[in-house]
Parts: sequence; structure tokens; C-alpha cells
Amino acid sequence: MSENQRLLVKNAKQVVLICRNGEKFLNKDGMKSLSVIENGSVVIGRDGLIKAVGPAETISAQYPESSCDHVIDATDMCVLPGLVDAHTHPVWAGDRVHEFAMKLAGASYMDVHRAGGGIHFTVEHTRAAAASELLDALTRRLQRMLRAGTTLVECKSGYGLELQTEVKMLEVIEAARRSLPINISSTYCGAHAVPKGRTEAEATADVLQVQLPRLKELMSAGTLQVDNIDVFCERGVFGLSSTHRILQAGRDMGLNINFHGDELHPMNSAQLGAELGALAISHLEEVTDEGIVAMATAKTAAILLPTTAYILRLPQPRARDMLDAGVIVALGSDFNPNAFCCSMPIVMHLACVNMRMSMSEALAAATINAAYALGRAHTHGSLEVSKHGDLLVLNCSRWEHLIYQLGGHQEILRYVVIKGNIV
Ligand code: NIG
Ligand code: FE
Repeated sequence: MSENQRLLVKNAKQVVLICRNGEKFLNKDGMKSLSVIENGSVVIGRDGLIKAVGPAETISAQYPESSCDHVIDATDMCVLPGLVDAHTHPVWAGDRVHEFAMKLAGASYMDVHRAGGGIHFTVEHTRAAAASELLDALTRRLQRMLRAGTTLVECKSGYGLELQTEVKMLEVIEAARRSLPINISSTYCGAHAVPKGRTEAEATADVLQVQLPRLKELMSAGTLQVDNIDVFCERGVFGLSSTHRILQAGRDMGLNINFHGDELHPMNSAQLGAELGALAISHLEEVTDEGIVAMATAKTAAILLPTTAYILRLPQPRARDMLDAGVIVALGSDFNPNAFCCSMPIVMHLACVNMRMSMSEALAAATINAAYALGRAHTHGSLEVSKHGDLLVLNCSRWEHLIYQLGGHQEILRYVVIKGNIV
């Protein structure tokens, strides 16, 4: 091998590949049996892509240390793919810590929303904030996620609810994408709530006739990259017909459909998403049996958000029913002022304890399946040759410690690597 490599991670006690033989996502059976190499190594090339992964002896014969720019000795440690967080709202201003006390005292999410709090409070503050202030806050939050092992994260707009602020938020996400090592999938969520003083019909018309056309211009000019379109499909927010029109218009612009559905009331969002070929639907606490079958058939991923059900004391999403029906189950932190959690290890822990997922299922849901939900399963989410060299090195004897230990992950998360660079 004459060509030099960027990074060799050698002699790891366990290397968790996640995927076997090019499977692009995992359903129940695949999730039960993750592929793990005992005593393995990984090589990442100078292009940032995985060059080789396999038993330590084979790799050391093919890739001498002297041919690698950097070497991590992972003896007694574990190597995992970088975590993928499939659902966050990380761009906002204004503190909502006071709402936590209201919720602890018994107020529901919609009670807080109707009292002028919730999304509306954040919208007011985000509209008033300078882009630089939003970028500073976003940068701090993304760095926190990175330190907890997230290497690919979905980031939504949705606290503007009008053209100017929605574009400001998407530009802030774009600036973060250009300046930070973390991989970002960006989502336009202009239909996150009906702005104060407007009707659902007016808000829908604004999204369809003002916001989306401008977005299309910015995307064609190359100033903005937007990957997905989202709507909060909920009783009293956007109903099924408005949701349908907005998602379809986004899809016609080339955006992936990835929306909030069946969260507080059964809305038949799952059936709608399946019909429109949605890549993913989030929440689904109130999904019906028919919705589950529709999602399994359409290969629409379910992004489950254990923090939301936990904080709002909602019924748990039906993870087991979805897994049994063959739905592709992914996880997200839902980081937002309501669910202030930057940590996918904690999300996986909650998914295991509260939603009865196994640790293997939770890890697959927070890696390859979350990548699938973002349309990135061909490049992210597992340790396979030619995928991005995004990985975690854990200072512990078995990979399950990442989920078993509740909090304090900085102690065991020794290295976070993105495209072969230690970050
Ligand atoms: O996913 N359900 C709607 N949106 C967010 C909450 C946003 C907020 O409360 O600011 C969610 O939980
Ligand atoms: Fe959300």
C-alpha cells in the first residue's frame, strides 16, 4: 500500500459495524443481531471515507502504521459508528425554563401553547434575534451534541412562521453546516404552527404562495441547501388537507418529506405520509394499527422521540408494535425548548427502558435507521467501506455501556471522529 491513509484505529476490543453485506436499513431481525468484530481495526483514507474495517491482524498486515497520518490505539476500547440524531429544533432564542414548572404542575403541551407560551413564545424571540445571536446559540448546541457522540444531525427551521425569519433560520443552519465538522441535514418547517392572528388557511397559503417559492429561488441560486420539508400535522395546528398540500409542494421542489404526525391526536398522518412517499414521520404517539401497516409497506421510517413522551408524560410511542410490523424505526432527540436534550445516549437509554427496545435495536435506530430517515443511509450510519469515516471510540469493555450508563458520557467517549478527523 503506497498511498497514505488519514487515520488508523487499531486493536479495538469491539468494532460495531451495525450493517452486514450492504443492507441499507435494519428492521426487527437485523436490529437484533448487529454485526460486531471482536479485536478489530478501522482505516480511514485521506478522502475521509472508510478504507477498510476488519480483524486487527488483517488490517495491520495491509495498512502498516507508518502509512497512516494518525493512529488511535483502541486497545480495551470499543468503536461504534457516529450517532445520528434524526429530529431536532436547534435554532431559537428565548428561555422557556419556566414552562417546565408549569408542566410539572400539570399543564399539558397545548395548555402552554394556548397560554401564549410554547412555540409562540419562541417565535417572538427568534423573530427579534439577530442571525449572529442565533448562530452562536446553534453552534454551542451542536458542539454539545458532538460531545455526546452525534455526528449527523437533522436541524429544522420553524420558529419564524413567516418568510424572513424562516429564511434567516435556514441561513443560520447553512452557516453552521459550512463552519462546523458535524454533518447537518436541514429541514424547512415553516408550517410548525399557525402564526398568531392568522387562520390555518391563511398560514397554508403563505407557505405555499410566499415561503416555498422564495425557498425554491434561493435553492436554485445555490445560496441555500435544504434537504427536507416538515409540517406539524395536529388538531388545531395543520390538518390533514393543509399538510397534504404543503408536503406535496415541498416534494415537487425535490425535498424529502419528513414531518410531525399523530403526536397528540390520531390524525391518520401515517397513512398520509405513506401515500406521499414520505421518508419519515416523527412522534407517532397516537398512530393507529392501519397507520403502522401503511408505514411498513411504504418503507416510511418512524422517528420516535422518547424525550417528548417523557417530558410531556404522553403515552409511549408503540415501538414494539412498529418493529413487529416491520417499520424502520429511528430515534431523535427532538432537541427544542420543550425537550432540552442534546444527548443521543440518553435518548437510547429512554427508548430501551420506556419503549422496550433492546440495546441493539436502539443503536441501530440511532445510526443506520436514522440515516435512512434522512436519506443518508448510503453514506452514513454504519462502518462500511466507502461510507464516511464518522465513528466513536469508547473507553469501555463493551459497547452497551454507551446506553447502560445514564448520563456522564464524556467520561467514556474518548474520541469523536468525523471524516477521519478527531473533533
Ligand atoms: O417536536 N410538536 C411540535 N414541535 C416540537 C416542539 C416545539 C416547541 O415546543 O417549541 C416537538 O416537540
Ligand atoms: Fe419536533
